[in-house]
Amino acid sequence: MATRFSPKIALVGSGMIGGTVGLLSGLSSLSNNIVFLDVVEGMPAGKALDLAQATTCQDIQCTSTGCSDLSENSEGLKDADIVIVTAGFPRKPGMSRDDLLSKNAEVISNVGRAIGKQCPKAFVICITNPLDVMVSLLQKVSGLPTNRVVGMAGLLDSSRFRYFLAEALKVSVKDVHTMVLGGHGDAMVPVLSATSVNGIPLFTIIEMGMITQKQVDDIVERTRQGGGEIVALLKMGSAFVAPAVCALSMVQAYLRNERRIIPCCAYIDGKYGLKATYGGVPCIIGSNGVEEVLDLKLAGQEKEMFIKSMKDVEDLRANCRKLGFEA
Ligand code: APR
Repeated sequence: MATRFSPKIALVGSGMIGGTVGLLSGLSSLSNNIVFLDVVEGMPAGKALDLAQATTCQDIQCTSTGCSDLSENSEGLKDADIVIVTAGFPRKPGMSRDDLLSKNAEVISNVGRAIGKQCPKAFVICITNPLDVMVSLLQKVSGLPTNRVVGMAGLLDSSRFRYFLAEALKVSVKDVHTMVLGGHGDAMVPVLSATSVNGIPLFTIIEMGMITQKQVDDIVERTRQGGGEIVALLKMGSAFVAPAVCALSMVQAYLRNERRIIPCCAYIDGKYGLKATYGGVPCIIGSNGVEEVLDLKLAGQEKEMFIKSMKDVEDLRANCRKLGFEA
């Protein structure tokens, strides 16, 4: 049985990322009311049973159920407090995120309609790629307010950048702070001006000789290709552990009203010189979902890179509309 006040987390898409989010949510006791949903008959019920037995082993009471029906007759999505959307298809080696556009737009349209009808008060985190366009589509189709529909990518890209920097600097990851903004594609922007090592700006760290500009440039490029590097190594599917952990951090910030500053794919209207679009920006995440989009003043090359990255998002959004979707 779920405890009375446990938030209901619905995982739409119970594959690699959805399954891992379920596991982490159950083991961390963030929720003991977890529903797996997927189009594959039986699979979500199997994941739910597996999770219930795993949490039992850890003496955690967790009610997890599985459901292969997103229709209104189903209890699966009904009144969910949090929905994590990973439904769709992941990349194969050699594919870009954008190659997933038409297949995943269809899936996200169906999922968005179901969310709008069955859990209109939920906080929704989308992970399905191509991310920025899928989040925009999901928000429009579901009709949920923009502050409650976000995408998870910036935190993942920032974690990759942090990890590579800490490794090169031979310091703890705890001391490296940074942000990756813009669209979740090859033109994403690791923001060097917002990068520091225990408060020391990265530019000073370079002057101190702890790392060279060339090493930083290489790390920026590796970060941009960070997802593709894992796709090529795995050969089947894409990264799933780090995306799941990052999504869980966002869930935690929401449920605990932490007001953490997290780079997310959020609705931007009037900031960064942008109108009514979705893209990666620093946000305060608390009990209202996106409480605020921070208008970080980028300058010089970083500003140009951000504009270029958001132009890529807009172009893809236009393609999505040409395919008949209302992104
Ligand atoms: N409704 C519900 N589930 C669906 C639907 C749908 N209409 N269509 C597909 N699915 C399910 C698939 O059956 C599959 O189990 O979505 C699941 C996706 O899981 P994986 O294939 O394991 O993919 P995963 O690695 O979890 O990535 C999911 O996140 O990072 C992105 O690019 C990635 O778009 C991909 C998504």
